[in-house]
Amino acid sequence: MNVLVAGGAGFIGANFVRRLLAAAQDRVVNLDLLTYAGNLENLAGLEDHPRYRFVRGDIGDAALVRELCAAERVEAVVNFAAESHVDRSVDAPRLFLETNVLGTQNLLAAARELGIARFVQVSTDEVYGSLGREGRFTEQSPLAPNSPYAASKAAADLVCRAYHHTFGLPVIVTRCSNNYGPYQFPEKLIPLMITNALAGEPLPVYGDGLNVRDWIHVEDHCAALEAVLRRGQPGEVYNIGGDGELTNLEIVRLLLKLLDRPESLIRFVPDRPGHDRRYAIDSAKIRRELGWAPGWRPAEGIAATVRWYLEHRPWWEKIRSGAYRDYYERLYGHGGRHGAA
Ligand code: NAD
Ligand code: DAU
Repeated sequence: MNVLVAGGAGFIGANFVRRLLAAAQDRVVNLDLLTYAGNLENLAGLEDHPRYRFVRGDIGDAALVRELCAAERVEAVVNFAAESHVDRSVDAPRLFLETNVLGTQNLLAAARELGIARFVQVSTDEVYGSLGREGRFTEQSPLAPNSPYAASKAAADLVCRAYHHTFGLPVIVTRCSNNYGPYQFPEKLIPLMITNALAGEPLPVYGDGLNVRDWIHVEDHCAALEAVLRRGQPGEVYNIGGDGELTNLEIVRLLLKLLDRPESLIRFVPDRPGHDRRYAIDSAKIRRELGWAPGWRPAEGIAATVRWYLEHRPWWEKIRSGAYRDYYERLYGHGGRHGAA
């Protein structure tokens, strides 16, 4: 299958591109704008792969998307491309709407025009809002996004739904919980805490640190996405989660223990505005219908992730110093529309 992966130079997209190229016979075209979060070093070693092509470009560029899909005879689209960080959406919401909503609509329009046979929209559990102490999100839970990021993802989900309902486009939406693993940009909780601890810098914990996230290893998420790509039912939504509920404080303490660093590095800082209290995913549907199940247990997966960051210091040191951006300036001659991290 010829697969267009949009946003394949980011954390989850790069893990997914690696998975597709390692296993099956698919051809992968990776369309990524290389914003601050996109990093070709996440795809190092694939440059000359015979079934792989990288194209730097914006999912919002209608002509580019259409021409690329036509030229590459794209049969399926998997859309990871997004502004993905909640805190950034609190500071500057507009880009989230442009990329996450209008960019997605642009991909949908090209898929419709070209009769593309499959469209997987990689969404998030954050579209469901926040839980109290009890219960888990199912695919029937109402959409109640709380941050500009979550609202932009929910809006994109609804545009996907409309393209299926109105135009019969074979769209499938997935909603996954918090991912961890290799190549995660160190603005997100786990890699931020690992890299700060290794640098001897304070670990900023928002509010009381008792917010709960449902952690899943990125490999398990990518395996679920592959199952959806190959066997998912058009028009359906699939929740994906790893049964990995932990408070932020539990995560931070676990990381410090694994790194043999003192808890005195923890700093409680003012809370994130509108901070969702708890996420938890019921993934019974994808387990039952597509035979998927997570392989990693959180404690082991997080320990493996700590080892990965210890073994890949140059990867994250270049990000923390900004040197990875200089590389793109040299390679492409201009900085793209999003500027530096
Ligand atoms: P990321 O920020 O690491 O990567 C996003 C990628 O999209 C980057 O490579 C970036 O360059 C690219 N991109 C941004 N704007 C673009 C544009 N206009 N055109 C083309 N490419 C563009 O994000 P991630 O954590 O890998 O998340 C990937 C997707 O999965 C997102 O859609 C996110 O909403 C969703 N998701 C993430 C998580 C998580 O825990 N990280 C969980 C569930 C769902
Ligand atoms: O649930 C899926 C979502 O998970 C994805 O859709 C998003 O793209 C992804 O960024 C992630 O969102 P979160 O806001 O949950 O992830 P983040 O790593 O930013 O924060 C995780 C928790 O840790 C959250 O409760 C806020 C807290 N936190 C985060 C940072 C960066 C801190 O306490 N301190 C921090 O410095």
